[in-house]
Amino acid sequence: MNVLITGISGRVGANLAVQLMKKGYDVRGVVYPGDPATAKARKLGAEIYEADMDDAEGVARACDGCDHIVHLAAQMKQGNSTVQRMFAINALGTLNVLEGAVRSSRPVQSVLLAGTDQAYHPFVSDRTTFYEDHPQHPIDIYALTKVMSEQMLYTYGRQYDLPIKVMRFGSVIAADEPLQLFYPAWLDSYVNGEWTTPGRIPWFGADKVEAARAAVAAALKTPNGVCAIMDEAGNSWGLPFTDVRDTVDGIIRVMESKDAVGQAFNLVGPAATPFVKVAQLTAAHTDRPYIEVRMPFLWWFNVSNAKARSILGYEPKYTYEDMLQSALAFRRGEDIGVVPV
Ligand SMILES: NC(=O)c1ccc[n+]([C@@H]2O[C@H](COP(=O)([O-])OP(=O)(O)OC[C@H]3O[C@@H](n4cnc5c(N)ncnc54)[C@H](O)[C@@H]3O)[C@@H](O)[C@H]2O)c1
Repeated sequence: MNVLITGISGRVGANLAVQLMKKGYDVRGVVYPGDPATAKARKLGAEIYEADMDDAEGVARACDGCDHIVHLAAQMKQGNSTVQRMFAINALGTLNVLEGAVRSSRPVQSVLLAGTDQAYHPFVSDRTTFYEDHPQHPIDIYALTKVMSEQMLYTYGRQYDLPIKVMRFGSVIAADEPLQLFYPAWLDSYVNGEWTTPGRIPWFGADKVEAARAAVAAALKTPNGVCAIMDEAGNSWGLPFTDVRDTVDGIIRVMESKDAVGQAFNLVGPAATPFVKVAQLTAAHTDRPYIEVRMPFLWWFNVSNAKARSILGYEPKYTYEDMLQSALAFRRGEDIGVVPV
């Protein structure tokens, strides 16, 4: 059985490749020309194809003859590139994978797509739990390309009877990444970066921008601080972080399950993690000072993994505390069985 992984050099792809090879699958991966993580991908021992996701012929060559295709390649942050480029990688890239699958010289057993919880518009203050049937209302180009990709899969499923499967990940972290979060600069990148870029309507209300910026500016005075982020009444922010080992376990379950055909699954960690608890744990295990950051709004949501639990037997194991302990072990040089980003 062979499996193609697009995005094999990434956080999820590299770890998936290792686990699939351990299970005896032959793994093939796509890297794009000039991908700075090409050496990382080559070290995994998989067969490597070079193709940009917007290169239809290159992607088709990689897809040809594969039993399963796990399509993970995507650009998550626009950065200095254009919306057109992001669209080409994420949306046109998915179309190219689907065309590669239907044109393959052998019938494909399944095509899996990495979707995102961001498509639910999880920027909420009312503690919503998102189930798979929640309407998807993207508020940025990234989430839009993911919803479009999902729709492409469903269309090819109907048009060609292609066995398609959709996964929706949420805040996946690997190796020592838990130790890189909750710095004031991290909060700043959301509040003064993503959420308030010129012309954008801040999801938490334009009237709260000034107070939010003041809270971030105060936190930035302790650059090394670990931010316990809460609203003005002291309610902790929170969201479901997912250890990459749980994500990989979920992907393999989706790939191997016939019941997953035509379905979408939230593949997230065990529960939403309150940011205050994260900050307490991080401060207790590092020399970073604990700082309270009171924001003028709440951000707290959860994503239900009940469907994946009941249909696939998915049982995410890693709490945030486990992720933090693994990150500390990784920094001590111990083998935690995870390929770092
Ligand atoms: N990490 C998360 O928190 C998260 C959350 C929700 C959804 N997802 C989705 O899961 C998937 C995997 O995420 P990840 O965390 O491993 O991301 P990552 O950024 O670590 O990896 C992305 C991969 O895409 C590849 N890629 C980027 N541009 C390409 C191009 N032009 N042509 C070919 N390949 C290209 C990169 O080389 C890399 O291997 C992505 O589709 C992402 O959108 C991730």
